[in-house]
This record gives sequence, structure tokens and C-alpha cells, in this order.
Amino acid sequence: MQISFVAPPDVTAKSGTKEGSAGAVVVGAVEGGAFLPAAARLDKASGGALARALKVSRFTGKTGQMVEVLAPAGIAASRLLLVGLGKPESLDEKGLETLGAQIAGRLYGAGESQAAVEIDVPKGAKVKKAELAAHLAFGAKLKSYAFDKYRTRNLDEYEKKLKALRIVTPDVAAAEKAHAGLAAVAEGVFLARDLVNEPPNVLYPEEFARRVKAQLSKLGVRIEILGEAEMKKQGFGALLGVGQGSARESQLVVMQWNGAKKSAKPFALVGKGVCFDSGGLSIKVGAGMQGMKGDMAGAACVAGTLLTLARRKARVNVVGVVGLVENMPDGGAFRPDDVLTSLSGQTIEVLNTDAEGRLVLADALTYTQRRFAPKAVIDLATLTGAIVATLGFEHAGVFSNNDQLVQRIQAAGRFTGERVWQLPLDPFYDKMIRSKIADMKNIGGANSGAITAAQFLKRFIEKDTVWAHLDIAGVAWQDGEQKPTIPSWGTGWGVRLLNRLMREYYES
Ligand code: BES
Ligand code: MN
Ligand code: ZN
Repeated sequence: MQISFVAPPDVTAKSGTKEGSAGAVVVGAVEGGAFLPAAARLDKASGGALARALKVSRFTGKTGQMVEVLAPAGIAASRLLLVGLGKPESLDEKGLETLGAQIAGRLYGAGESQAAVEIDVPKGAKVKKAELAAHLAFGAKLKSYAFDKYRTRNLDEYEKKLKALRIVTPDVAAAEKAHAGLAAVAEGVFLARDLVNEPPNVLYPEEFARRVKAQLSKLGVRIEILGEAEMKKQGFGALLGVGQGSARESQLVVMQWNGAKKSAKPFALVGKGVCFDSGGLSIKVGAGMQGMKGDMAGAACVAGTLLTLARRKARVNVVGVVGLVENMPDGGAFRPDDVLTSLSGQTIEVLNTDAEGRLVLADALTYTQRRFAPKAVIDLATLTGAIVATLGFEHAGVFSNNDQLVQRIQAAGRFTGERVWQLPLDPFYDKMIRSKIADMKNIGGANSGAITAAQFLKRFIEKDTVWAHLDIAGVAWQDGEQKPTIPSWGTGWGVRLLNRLMREYYES
């Protein structure tokens, strides 16, 4: 979908324009139903068509409500779509994105091929004109995502027909400027979604690494790929243990974006990249295995974020490290009861091969800290079913050794709508992963599974490292419970949050 910003008057307002030629025109009203200026103008030009429609509808201007007039007389629009903005003082960037997505969704349903959005900033709203235009556009863009590459039949049925969306705004240059950064975010989100949605026979560790390299190195991100031989030499015993039952080779990808001065310590993002999680020898049951192509969503988020930062030339140094493996049960697979020696030197008794993500992250975290001495580390992982049971699809879980970092992550999440909820770390939970024969075991007890997983990771955090762990198993992919700005399956969760976090707190 092509998005452009145009100054008023739009074609709909030009006299002599053929009726219907401008496609759909979207205008706004605030709570209570009062028209914003463009709505009032088009209502008048159409002989009061909108006002009449309102009278016979339940529209009250609440956010997201819509009322539609088809083929209105007197104006160039094929349809007039009136959208409720709610209370002006509650209008914020995230709300505008949701509205943009709802508008795009409605237009997809209608089969319109082009549309103009003429929504003025209501009196009493805190957002500026350029921001309103940019965030509406961003929401519409996020909604335009589709993953149709494997469909070969009935393409027409799935096609999103809306090809051109014009946002009418008084200061086009300011809107374009506000939108540039968001367009970079959308690109990163789409990369993350694509990586998650791609089936595991296509996207295995080496293919993930190839794609990241192809897409990021041309933007100036330095990419290094470590294969099994190199990791073996360096001692990645935990990560390699997980990949050992797979016909596919495990990989570690290191991405470096240096947008700040050389001497500035990097911020580090570490991602779990289990391209498929069968559970290994502790094999999952059929239903539990479905969707496990998405067990690399943490790694996908890291790659998407690096793409966004590079695309918008963020003035920050960030290193992304993703551990890529496939967890499979063949004759060479690691076993329950095996003891692995991690890169850190700590030994791990494996009691369940399905608790594999923490093993991958352990070595990726050690590598990242020892090589880069980062100013802070955030790891992202679809780590536990327990976090889904706890927080469902609304919040990711955050665990951390640093309250300031948690507050920043939470603030960024509130701004973007990718919310996080803090859960505890405590020596009591740490005791639950003591092993009879090794330094630790890879599972806790029957309860508090998301917390014991986080405690496990904490054992690989070196003294003084500022660290947060995001368990994104519930939010990274969504089936059924759709939200306006995200599709089913890969949501691209985290790219928006991390981009905001960098912009607000770490960019020079
Ligand atoms: N990848 C799964 C976690 C997961 C579950 C992600 C559901 C998305 C949806 C992880 O590797 C796993 O299998 N965790 C186990 C750990 C257990 C064996 C201690 C779990 O949560 O059941
Ligand atoms: Mn697992
Ligand atoms: Zn997993």
C-alpha cells in the first residue's frame, strides 16, 4: 500500500471533479458526534448526507465507531466514512495508530482501491497535526501486512485492494518528516513478522542467517555468522547441545549497528532463535507443537529492530546477537539426563529437552557480555508456556536486575501499546533449579515456570551487567484474538517498543 501526504484541498473538494473519482474519503467526529472541519465541509457539499446518516445510526463519536455513506451526491467520493475519535484529550499516538488500522481494515473490507483521510486535530487534543497524520499512516501501514506468498489459488479473495492512501494534512513536509522514522519501524516489524510466519522447512538457522545478512548488511549493519565448528571451538556447549539432534546446522548471528561514536558502549539485544521446537526427545504432543515455527520470534524481533535502527540511522550503538537452532529428536539428539558445559563454564543437567530456549540464550548471553561489555542487555524469547498462562496475550513478562531499565521498558511499551508486566526474581526461585550433580538443572518444579526460566538466565548474567529478560511467548504470535494493528501469527512484537526505548533513552 502506497501512503502519501497531500495538502488540502484534496480532489474531493475540487469543483468539476467527477463524482466517485476520489475513492473513499475518511473524515472524523469527536465523542458526542460533533463533526471536525473536513467532515462538516463534506457533509455540506453532499447536501447533508452524513448528518442524515448519523440520525439513523448509533454513532456517538466513540473511538473506532464508523458510519458510512455510499456514493454521496455532489462530491467526488465513492464513499464517505465518518470515524469516531473519542475524547480529544485522550487522543494519543497509539490511539491514532489503532484508528489508522481500523480505517484501513474497513477499506479493505469495502474493496476500495484508493482513499483519502481528512481528519483534523480536534480542539483540546495534545497531538500535533504532523503527528496525527504520521501515526494514522503508520497504523494503516501495519494493518496492510499480509503473508500470502504460499497461496496459489483464489488470490482475489485474499487481495487487499486498497493500493493508495492519501493523508490530507496542512504541512506535508512536517508530516513526511514525522512519518520517516515510523516507516522504518514498519519495515522492521514486517521483517520480524515474515521471519516468524515463514514455515520451518524454509526458514531454518542458516536461512535465517542468510536473510538477515541480505537485508541488513546493505543498510550498514555489520553481520558475522558463526557456524557449528567455530562455536564448538569457543565452547558453546549449551547452544550446540540443543541443535545436535537436527539435520540443520546451528548458527549464531552477530549484528552491529554503530550509529554513535565509536567509544560509546553498545546496547545489546539477544534473541532466542529456535526455528522449530519439537521439544526434542522430550517431545511435544501434536497440538503443542503447532506454531513452534514461531519459536524464533525473539531473534526475529532483534533482527527487525536492527533493521529499523539502521534504516533511520539511529544515533546509537546496538549489537544484536541471535542463537539459531532447530530442536529435533534424532539419534544424535541431546537427552534428558545429559550434562552440558556452557560457554560460561557452568554445567547444566538437562532434565527436559523441551526447556531448550534457556540453553540457547545462556551461551548467547555469555558471548555477548564477554565480547561487547554492553551498557545493558535485553533478551527476548518465546521462553515458556507458563507466561502465556500467567499474562495471556496482553502483556509480555519482564524480569530484571535493574529497576530503571524496567521502568524505561514499561514506559516505551505503554507508548507503543506493546505492554510488559514485571514478575519477580528471588533466591527462593533460584533454589528450584539446583541440580543433584551439576551447577543447575534446566527446569524448575511444577509451578512458577516463567520465573524459574528467568532465574536460569540470571545465572548467566555477569556481575554488573544491567539486564532484562522479556518472555514474549504470549505476545509474539496470535491466533484468533486479533488486535487492529497486528495480524494473526507473527505480530512483530517488540520492534516498536525497542525502537522507542532506544529513541527515548539511549540515542545521543
Ligand atoms: N518454546 C516453548 C515455549 C512456548 C510455549 C512458546 C507455548 C510459545 C507457546 C519452550 O521451549 C518450552 O517448550 N517451554 C516449556 C518448558 C518446560 C519444559 C519447563 C514449557 O513452557 O512448557
Ligand atoms: Mn521447548
Ligand atoms: Zn522453545
